[in-house]
Amino acid sequence: MNRSLQRFISCAALALVLVLSVGSFSLLAKAANAGEPQGIPALREIYQDYFEIGAAISGTTLMTHEELLGKHFSSLTAENEMKPDGLQRAEGRFLFHIADRMVNYALDNGMKVRGHTLVWHAQTPDWFFKDKDGNRIDQKDVITDEDRQLVIERLENHIETVMTRYAGKVYAWDVVNEAISDDGRYILRQDSPWFRILGEDFIEIAFRKAHEVDPTAKLFYNDYNIERVYKRGRTIQMLKSLLDKGVPIHGVGIQGHWSVNDSIEEVEQAIKMYADLGLEIHITELDIGIKDVSEASLARQAEYYRKVFAMFKKYSDVITSVTLWGISDQATWRPNDNPLLFDKNKEPKPAFWAIVDTDKSWEENKALYLGL
Ligand code: G3I
Repeated sequence: MNRSLQRFISCAALALVLVLSVGSFSLLAKAANAGEPQGIPALREIYQDYFEIGAAISGTTLMTHEELLGKHFSSLTAENEMKPDGLQRAEGRFLFHIADRMVNYALDNGMKVRGHTLVWHAQTPDWFFKDKDGNRIDQKDVITDEDRQLVIERLENHIETVMTRYAGKVYAWDVVNEAISDDGRYILRQDSPWFRILGEDFIEIAFRKAHEVDPTAKLFYNDYNIERVYKRGRTIQMLKSLLDKGVPIHGVGIQGHWSVNDSIEEVEQAIKMYADLGLEIHITELDIGIKDVSEASLARQAEYYRKVFAMFKKYSDVITSVTLWGISDQATWRPNDNPLLFDKNKEPKPAFWAIVDTDKSWEENKALYLGL
């Protein structure tokens, strides 16, 4: 064999040895890494193939919880800042700066935004319901067509101004919040000024206007306890009658303000019933309360969160977003219930570890990721 061929073969052999040794080194490195603890995993990565995992924030927690928010969540909701009294406290004077900051943060961090909420009987300034003389229309003996038209114009103007500003940025809106009565004698709550002035029509008016302003937005009806037997039948009745009229309602928001004593099976039944209407389902305000932070209570909360998220994953074909109503127990509307995934020091609780892998216990998940 001539010398040049010999030289070529020996160089090729050397190159092959090098490639194999580098390859095996990187495999060894990976194998070594596999054994190394990975640290606290990101929920948004764990759930990216199931549904958006979101959190409600305030202007304050956007700053104080930014690290947790950016790492763990793929969606955010303004806890109060995008409600009528947050955006249009005085007629015609819109204050968007805090909402803008939240929306821009979300877009800069690859997160979606749920808009909460356009039409609600609470946190809505009085002026929405006053006539030209400053009298509360819903408290008058006679409500005139002029009164109704004035209130419709305000409703539609609020929706138009807000949704125009966030069109293409806020992908889903809680168009109407909490319209169903807790009193089984009625479908709609009787104490809502929207209902008292406009009757049931206010819901259709709101959804049709919302769809006209931003046809790309997903429009949700949002409420609490509509997963419970006492309320879900009337909710389905209302939604079905609107859907049958072609009202553009795309989904239902089940708020999910629960405790560890609440039935999970009842929730699962409700999810199937709303899905049968052809509606997308968002769990919009999830928090699960416990009376104290004893080891036993935290473990019970963890197990409840594990079961609930296992069930959500089972229905991820219709559940497309799960939002926690806050990030840590340091900032929650339920300050005595310790309801969230992170504790008052913003550390992961057993509940956090429980949803990291719902096929394992929270202790197993924590040990695996932290190398305990
Ligand atoms: O902004 C004022 C502040 O200026 C004032 O100093 C302070 C003390 O009075 O009050 C502040 O407003 C508070 C607001 O939260 C913002 O922090 C209101 O008093 C307080 O009532 C309001 O509570 C919110 C509640 O909705 C109002 O109904 C909660 O933070 C919020 O988590 C809660 O969220 C609702 C959802 O929107 C709908 N589903 C139920 C859920 C829980 O109620």
